[in-house]
Amino acid sequence: MYGHISTLAFVGFEARAVEVQVRITPGQQAFMIVGLPDKAVGESRERVRNALHAVGLGLPYKHLTVNLAPADLPKEGSHYDLAIALALMAAMGAISPEAIAGYAAVGELALDGAIREVPGALPAAIGANAMGKGLICPAACGPEAAWASEDMDLLAPEHLLSLVNHFKGYQILSRPKPNVAAASGPMPDLKDIKGQESAKRALEVAAAGGHNLLMIGPPGSGKSMLASRLPSILPPLTPEEMLEVSMMHSLAGELMGGKLATERPFRQPHHSASMAALVGGGSRPRPGEVSLAHLGVLFLDELPEFTAQVLDSLRQPLETGETVIARANHRIAYPSRIQLVAAMNPCRCGGASPGQSCKRGPRCAEDYQARISGPLMDRIDLQIEVPAVSAADLVLPAASEGSFEVGRRVEAARRRQLDRFSALGAKKVRTNAECSGQLLEQVAMPDEAGMALMRQAAETLGLSARGFHRTLRVARTLADLEAADNVSRMHIAEALSYRGETLRRRQAA
Ligand SMILES: Nc1ncnc2c1ncn2[C@@H]1O[C@H](COP(=O)(O)OP(=O)(O)O)[C@@H](O)[C@H]1O
Ligand SMILES: [Mg+2]
Repeated sequence: MYGHISTLAFVGFEARAVEVQVRITPGQQAFMIVGLPDKAVGESRERVRNALHAVGLGLPYKHLTVNLAPADLPKEGSHYDLAIALALMAAMGAISPEAIAGYAAVGELALDGAIREVPGALPAAIGANAMGKGLICPAACGPEAAWASEDMDLLAPEHLLSLVNHFKGYQILSRPKPNVAAASGPMPDLKDIKGQESAKRALEVAAAGGHNLLMIGPPGSGKSMLASRLPSILPPLTPEEMLEVSMMHSLAGELMGGKLATERPFRQPHHSASMAALVGGGSRPRPGEVSLAHLGVLFLDELPEFTAQVLDSLRQPLETGETVIARANHRIAYPSRIQLVAAMNPCRCGGASPGQSCKRGPRCAEDYQARISGPLMDRIDLQIEVPAVSAADLVLPAASEGSFEVGRRVEAARRRQLDRFSALGAKKVRTNAECSGQLLEQVAMPDEAGMALMRQAAETLGLSARGFHRTLRVARTLADLEAADNVSRMHIAEALSYRGETLRRRQAA
């Protein structure tokens, strides 16, 4: 007696096809699962036995072998329960093998036969659709899976019994409906920020060119407030991007009620976060904060308080847009294209202000700022100081311009970048921040006056090759914000002001 059904294994972002094969042979009673199961899959035996008993099916007193093929791919998680139960039922003759032939199944079983929610239903549905199959998933995951395709076959039962009844034609399960997350109320608006005009300008430039941003300023100057307003001026997610973001959140089991994410992620991990929490991994692979911020903003408040190891692990995603986690016998990659926004006090005790050290002396600020490595600093195009707000600023009326107006300028600047890079055949580059040095020299060479200023800055400020490119990148964005074709002296001058000069000078002092 033989039964089989498809299911899926999650390898990073990818859902790979797995076949559950069950054979019932005469011999001593046993229930074996082979094919590199982890502990959760091994324990599946007890859940499956009890769930089948709950729907009136006792396991035969024979030798049961469950094989998860391909046998060399590690199987992790509890979502294999449902497929194992269905293949067993087919082998026992409780359901017809043809009924389940067109489906892949994912779901965890409760001892009473209820089908419990599992992470990853959206990538599973996309994977099943690519295999030309329908998907059987828990009822709670149905609205999420329904996003994969409009015309794929989907069954989302609450209980093993309703699934059996569906196959026998006693009760027809209706197709789950896709669910969109209602916007989580209005996003915080730039209008709320009084004064801080230059910081707001830097935020607009960061949004327009996709640049990473570091804000340095005393406590209470509004750094966290500024960062949380970045998503409100970024262009909205395209439909494909929504699916991509939702897949990451689905894998992490964070897609609430199966609702597709419509807003750009804004993730703000605490500085006590571990490596596993930040970049993913741990005993069961799961996307970390960096991947959950994919296509959105990763905000690291109090940047120097993160451990050196955690900060170091950010370099790879910032460079390649991907996080790779090494497992015992394979590698897992999660997409992690993020915009990094970081904030820090000038010194550990928070007493220093721009141009002035705290009562512990300049050492306090130097030691604190030295915790951030040079290579990480190099990835941050915009480094600004955020001074304390004065009482005079706080009593000002609200700014006339809010996130809506700024967002429109950002969108126009982004469109110019997209058009330019696609005209040059650089299809993968979408923002100036992603532009390589070579391409930059093609698109962002300043005019004669700009070049003269650049030369002067190189001499007086000691601009390195990397600093040179960083300045050009930001200057290109400044020109794009003005819809200017050429980078001028003015753009270069403003770009030079975002180099974190003061910071480095203080460090050198
Ligand atoms: N420019 C500002 N306009 C209005 N309120 C501000 C401003 N800056 C700071 N605040 C107030 O101060 C509080 C603390 O700001 P926060 O962003 O947490 O500062 P930081 O992160 O720099 O320590 C905010 O919640 C807000 O009420
Ligand atoms: Mg803060």
